[in-house]
This record gives sequence, C-alpha cells and structure tokens, in this order.
Amino acid sequence: MQDPLTRRVLSSWRRAFDAAKIRVELPVAGRRSRDRVGQTIRWTYPRCSELPLGPTGPVLLTEILDGFTADDYRRSAAILATVWRVSRVVVEPAEAGHVILRVIGRDLLRDPITHADLVRVRTGDPLRVPCARTETGDWWEWPYSSTLLVGASGSGKSGAVWSIVTGLQAARRRGEVVLVGCDPKAIEIRTAPWLFDLAVYELDEIGDLLEAVAQELQRRLRAPATARSWTLDRGPLIAVVIDELPAILTDRVRTRREAAQQNLDVLLRMGRSFGIAVVGASQAPQKDVIGDRTNYVSRVCLRLPNAREVDLVLGEGQSTVAPAHMIPPAHAANGYATAGLAWVQDETGHLIRVRFAHLTDADREAYRRPSAVA
Ligand SMILES: Nc1ncnc2c1ncn2[C@@H]1O[C@H](COP(=O)(O)OP(=O)(O)OP(=O)(O)O)[C@@H](O)[C@H]1O
Ligand SMILES: [Mg+2]
Repeated sequence: MQDPLTRRVLSSWRRAFDAAKIRVELPVAGRRSRDRVGQTIRWTYPRCSELPLGPTGPVLLTEILDGFTADDYRRSAAILATVWRVSRVVVEPAEAGHVILRVIGRDLLRDPITHADLVRVRTGDPLRVPCARTETGDWWEWPYSSTLLVGASGSGKSGAVWSIVTGLQAARRRGEVVLVGCDPKAIEIRTAPWLFDLAVYELDEIGDLLEAVAQELQRRLRAPATARSWTLDRGPLIAVVIDELPAILTDRVRTRREAAQQNLDVLLRMGRSFGIAVVGASQAPQKDVIGDRTNYVSRVCLRLPNAREVDLVLGEGQSTVAPAHMIPPAHAANGYATAGLAWVQDETGHLIRVRFAHLTDADREAYRRPSAVA
C-alpha cells in the first residue's frame, strides 16, 4: 500500500507544478484548464516514477520538461513544498533529463545532534570525519580539505570546529594527523588546547605557525612523489584550524598581515595534494576579511543576516536555493533551536542542508582521557 505522504504528493502533483509554472503547453492529451481568458490550454506535466521510500518521505525520479533546467526545479522547490504541505523538497541531480525530488515530510534536523551521535558513526578514518546530519538522514563527513565556515555570532560555528577536531583525535593518536590551532581571539580553541599538537593565540605566533606550515608544504613539494594524492608514508596529514580568520586578515601590522595572507593563500591553493587542509571560521563573508572564498574546497554557510552575505559565501544567486538568511536566530530563550543549521557546498557545487553537532565542555574534557578517543 502506498504511504499517505506519497499519496498526498501524487494526488496534488499537477496542482503543485501548476503553482510552480513547470508545465508545457502542448496540443496533446493533457489537462484542460481555463487559466487564460477565452482560451483552452492543454498542459503536460513532468512524469515521475517512485524510487524506494526514503527516511523522510517519498523519493521521486522526475522528468525535466523541455525548456526547463534542473535549476528551475531547484528554484521551485519551496512552491512544491508549500502545495504538498511538507517541510522541504530537495532537488538532486539524476540521470540525463531527470532530477530526483526528495520530499522531506519530517524535519530530521529539528533536534540537536550530540557528540554521542557522532561517536556512533565515526570510523577513525581521518579522510571521512562525520560532523553533521543531513536533512535526508545521512551524515556529512568532513572530506579533509580546506573548508570555510561562515555564520553570524551564535550560529553554531564552534560545533563544526569541534566535530572536526575531535573526529581527528583517533588518527592523531596513531600519528597520522598533526593538528594545529590558531585562535586570535583566544576564546574557542583556548578552551581545549589538549586536542591540538600546537595551539597559538598571538598574531606573531600565528604568523610564525602559518610560515612553518607553508615551509613544510614547500618541502613536500620538492620531495619526489609516486602517487598523485597524499599517502601517509610521506608524512602525517596536517590540519590547520583557524577560529576568527578576519582577525588575521585585517591585522593592522601590514607586513605581518601580508605574510599571513600569502602563506594562507599557498596552503589553500596547494595544500590538498600534499596532505594539508585549512579550516577557517568567520562571522563575516566579505572578501576583505576572509580572502577569496573560491580557494576553499568546501564552504559552509550557517545563519547570516541577509541574502547578499549568503551569496558571498556560496556564490551569486545561491541564497534562493540555500536560504541561510531565513534561519531564525538561536538564543537561550528558544533553547538554541536553530544553532548548527547550515548549508554545505561540496566541491561539485552541490548544496546540502545539514545540522552540525553541538559539543559541550564536558565532551571536550573527556578527550583528556585516552580511552575516550573514538
Ligand atoms: N549544533 C548545535 N546544536 C544545538 N545548539 C548549539 C549548536 N551549536 C551551538 N549551539 C548553542 O549555541 C551557542 C552558540 O553557538 P556557537 O558558540 O557555536 O556560536 P558561534 O557561531 O561560534 O558564534 P561566535 O561567532 O560568537 O563565536 C552555543 O553556546 C550552544 O549553546
Ligand atoms: Mg565561535
């Protein structure tokens, strides 16, 4: 028997695509409607076939009509969701001429994700660190590549940072990962320096650290390579975590700022092939405070105050598909109900709605005991 939500979606299929204006006027069999004065129009609608039911609702392989693109479907997702009275509709790429419509009847991101949830799905593989739940019930795994985290104060950047940092601890204990932290405001990383091989807070020290990592990159560049991607026999992976990027890139001391900018630029552009990844967090997305966003392989956009700022993180026009500016602010009064909600853009440009985990002081404290490393 068809589940009730699938029935509801299919029975209002044409009404939803009417509302989205995704339909083609054709002189073939189709529905007659009189939405033009004195004229009968025959419409053809996208055909769909049901894929196995997903954890949040129906999954429908849907035809892209002539004259439309997958982006048109993506932009209409909110209209489809309104007609179907569901939380969201996610449009995913599919075989030629089709998209997959994933109907989200139940919002899996409503409840916070905890450290214990992460521990359950970790494998210890430093190249796949689970950090956030996706709205379709999967896990977003940090892919060990440079990542930009942008979100207003209180949006939940720290959860993303600590999920990555704690997720690398098992590999760090095995000597596969070296973790360094830069915290120019000394408020985040300073709360758990034991999770890093080196944590620095002063701009001079941060400059020296970036210089040292850039030199290590140069050394790795010169060493003869047998494989295209980094292998552990050539040295450990190095992760550089920076909370508050702008404090470094707007440093008033020009020589120090320019040197840090240059080193960071080299690490971002070339680090990946040599086992070096930078994770940078910022409240603001402007180029003059975070550098060139396109240098980062993955971009994470948490709550921001307006669509223009979302576009600065994810690319022009992306705020229509990933409306991070519509996330209501999280605060104590609403129990931080929306903290950690974000859109992640992977290296293919695909946007995924996620909720990052929230780690408490006690969660970080537990890593002082080696037995806690998962
Ligand atoms: N993923 C989450 N789920 C639930 N609650 C969260 C989550 N992340 C953060 N919180 C709550 O929201 C508060 C603010 O989040 P957080 O410190 O991560 O903000 P931030 O983005 O780092 O802000 P700032 O730029 O001011 O440092 C936290 O103290 C915590 O109570
Ligand atoms: Mg923070």
